Amino acid sequence: MGFARVKEILDQGIANWQSSPPNDNPADLSGHGPTFSWSMKPDLLAAVGHGARLIQPEVIGNGKGSQANLIIDLRTGLRGPGSRMPKGGPYIPESQVKEIEDWINAGCPD
Ligand code: HEM
Repeated sequence: MGFARVKEILDQGIANWQSSPPNDNPADLSGHGPTFSWSMKPDLLAAVGHGARLIQPEVIGNGKGSQANLIIDLRTGLRGPGSRMPKGGPYIPESQVKEIEDWINAGCPD
């Protein structure tokens, strides 16, 4: 699995969130900060949301994918259950979060 699938999962997560009233449509992701993006792989690898690096370099390719801020955030919430993303749900299914975790453990291949 490559980056295109990761992007698809995250884009679909936003699309599902936006189509669930009363959520914003379009979602306003600007509050996360200026480098919050997964348009291309380098964007995602550099992305920061509210001060937290989404994928810390030290968790890539060494079995620590479950410790990536992105994975914790999507699975349970980085700052407690109320902070699980996308904010308030609907959330990304566990099977898809696991796909992203596996991709990080595989070294974030293209
Ligand atoms: C380190 C990772 C992240 C942190 C710390 C974080 C934090 C936050 C916080 C504090 C808010 C509420 C304040 C605001 O609107 O800015 C928020 C909103 C939101 N976040 Fe995140 N977030 C993270 C990653 C993500 C990811 C990966 C997604 C999507 C898959 C996401 C989707 C959203 C959405 C849809 C909203 C609501 C936007 C709106 O109100 O229009 N966030 N996030």
